[in-house]
Amino acid sequence: MNVPHFMLKEIHQQPDVIRHQLDRTISIGIPDRINILACGTSLNAGLIGQFLFEQIAQIPTQVRSSSESLSAPLLETPNTITIAITQSGETADTIAALQQVQSKRVAITNGIDSTITRFADHTIYTNAGEEKSVAATKTFTSQIVLFYKLAFQIAHENQKLSDREFASHLESLKQIPQQMEKLLNENTIVELAQTLKETRDLIILGSGINTAIAVEGALKLKEATYTHAEGYAAGEFLHGPIALLDAEIPTLAIVTEDDSRIQKTIDRIRAHGNHVIEITAKSVPELFSPFLAVVALQLLAYHLATLRGIDVDRPRNIAKYLTT
Ligand code: G6P
Repeated sequence: MNVPHFMLKEIHQQPDVIRHQLDRTISIGIPDRINILACGTSLNAGLIGQFLFEQIAQIPTQVRSSSESLSAPLLETPNTITIAITQSGETADTIAALQQVQSKRVAITNGIDSTITRFADHTIYTNAGEEKSVAATKTFTSQIVLFYKLAFQIAHENQKLSDREFASHLESLKQIPQQMEKLLNENTIVELAQTLKETRDLIILGSGINTAIAVEGALKLKEATYTHAEGYAAGEFLHGPIALLDAEIPTLAIVTEDDSRIQKTIDRIRAHGNHVIEITAKSVPELFSPFLAVVALQLLAYHLATLRGIDVDRPRNIAKYLTT
């Protein structure tokens, strides 16, 4: 595919990146607690992992920014597994955070033989191929697909998912690349980017598993377009932040097959005369909707950046990863 920027190329590689993960056998064993350490986009992938490990596998799971965990480490039990996620494998805070850990250490990284692998008992590679754009896209989806697989597997082994449910979840995962390709071929996001060209502040709302995607979408918009975007859980947005809204600040809402929880917030925002744009991810079950919602927001960040004349592969002030 001949595309002008690595970011767009890497966004389009995601269906294949997921396909390559589907048939892999991966395992971390059965813990009684999972701790996740990461920074930036990898931290947002960690939030998806937390949702899946808690809600599907029913394992208590904590996520903490690596830098925060240096002064406030997560509690560990003898049977805790700590997962450090880092696309590069070179982020100094994540390496230092993993080194502090007493429990079994698992690294999830795209960096073959990267520094983090030296401090892990077990490494799972995300195999997404080199990611050149500073804004992470395909490595995020490669990280979350591994969390889906691990959570389903632990849940199956722990009898929290029946054989039938396990098979059906894996089947749903298999449908994702195809659904993603459909979305990648649509033009609606380019049109949305045009309408948001002058927008300096933006709210993104999600609910359940998509709260993490709202936060990740906001991070992509900050990194690639310098928009002051903030992601919130839809229900929580009503408890204060809704005061921010005026006619100048649009809200994007991730709406899934089960939209009842987010609909209440959308109705309240509209009742105050403010603007809500719905990002719909209804062609897959809600549990799997993050894959589509995140691609829609990545595309929005890309197109908005190019409309604004930003060199999307090399945004100001940030590096691909921080080694100090
Ligand atoms: C830097 C980048 C972020 C990235 C973060 C973590 O701050 O600007 O985009 O998500 O590092 O990188 P890692 O390689 O550890 O996933």
